[in-house]
Amino acid sequence: MSDTQLHMTSPAKAYQERRATLAKNLTRPMVIFSGHALARSYASNPHTFRAESCYLYFGGPPLEHAALMIEPGSDGQSGCTWFRTPPGPDDPLWLGPTPSDATCAAAIGIEASQVKDYSTLESATSKGNIACISPPHPETLAFACKLKLAKPTDEESLAIIDLRLIKDEHELAAMRYAAKAGVAAHIAAMRATRTGNCETDVQAALVAELVRHNCRESFSSICTIRGEVLHGECAGRKLHKGSLMLVDAGAEETGCYTSDMTRTYPVDGEWTEVQRHLYETVLRAEQTAIKACVPGKRYLDIHRLAAQIICEGLVDAELLKGTPAELADRGAYGLFFPHGVGHLLGMGVHDLEDFGDLAGYASGRSRPERFGDCFLRLDRDLAPGMVVTIEPGIYLVPSIWERDALVKPFDDVVNRSAVDALLDDEFGGIRIEEDVVIGSETSAGPEVLTAALPNDPDVVSAIIDGTII
Ligand code: GLY
Ligand code: MN
Ligand code: MN
Repeated sequence: MSDTQLHMTSPAKAYQERRATLAKNLTRPMVIFSGHALARSYASNPHTFRAESCYLYFGGPPLEHAALMIEPGSDGQSGCTWFRTPPGPDDPLWLGPTPSDATCAAAIGIEASQVKDYSTLESATSKGNIACISPPHPETLAFACKLKLAKPTDEESLAIIDLRLIKDEHELAAMRYAAKAGVAAHIAAMRATRTGNCETDVQAALVAELVRHNCRESFSSICTIRGEVLHGECAGRKLHKGSLMLVDAGAEETGCYTSDMTRTYPVDGEWTEVQRHLYETVLRAEQTAIKACVPGKRYLDIHRLAAQIICEGLVDAELLKGTPAELADRGAYGLFFPHGVGHLLGMGVHDLEDFGDLAGYASGRSRPERFGDCFLRLDRDLAPGMVVTIEPGIYLVPSIWERDALVKPFDDVVNRSAVDALLDDEFGGIRIEEDVVIGSETSAGPEVLTAALPNDPDVVSAIIDGTII
């Protein structure tokens, strides 16, 4: 069988170093599974395989039913084993050639003799007391259970989280490419947004551009005129003049690094006065928050900064009454901005979220309880090389305004008739989202990976109405 190329994001040395750093913090071996392709409807009709992120990060070649085992104290090379499922005799016929053991070993920085058959993992782990990282795939979990592998302790998880939080140059190069592909896809989506088209036409234009860039959607794209449904998917609605189109989508490149960006614009490019005012408020909140993305800054404070600007814009729009600072203290913005200002970005679009708040929240911090703030996914102090999204928004969500428990505490500061007028008009929602790399102490500011995608309301209009081609 002929050998074939293997796509890996980083050079072998980078994987060795990551494994060596992890191994310093381990007191027992760790097995990291790749997972397997999930069935769509029956086993031989699977979704495209996407390997588990930790497995990829530590150098696992992107093949299913495989695992890395790392011994404590390993130098990243010796003390590491890669277990693979060899291709079956008919696999080349149906699936094409797979890379050889030697190719894989060289790509990840181990000797060919350290590649073992996946079926030998059971005997390799028979001594017990071994930690395991697995994607939530039933078959892999059942195998881990049969092998009596243990869930990682918080210390073991944090050894991984601390490494993956900070992106190295190879990861950032992949993320810059994912951003570039996402920008091209969003421009295509803008050009497909016009009266007479449907949400699906916009998503089709977007996905075509991702595929042209050899990428896939980093999550189910949100292409909708019902932008107040925060994670609503495209439903094929007809676009009509006056509606706000919200497109939240990004690319996942071949190494599984992602982008995640949002733009909101009026169908046909003509802003109403209130749409433009609230859009400019969200943009100001976003730009102020991005400027604050410097090393040492607490992410919760960036969320609060954006919330304060949103309160100012809501008072100017006569949707809220009072002093913006007091409204922000009381959390009145949660009625209009009911989510966090962003999250970690990397191999997952909500990077590391499979570790829960252990990844998103620094030690000693926990999720706020207040509605809106409780959806904040991140509260760490920012550090050079971290990548986060900044994505404030303003929405008129009918289901919020139907919940007395949420609304009544703010009866004294809400202009309910103005709110109801926007709800009756099906205002929808506005979100603007960028991907931001935290710079060093001496850099001029953060790097905005998505900066090439216009967000100025006039420039966006000009792309939609075809003035800019
Ligand atoms: N794409 C979902 C989010 O922006 O968090
Ligand atoms: Mn996001
Ligand atoms: Mn998004």
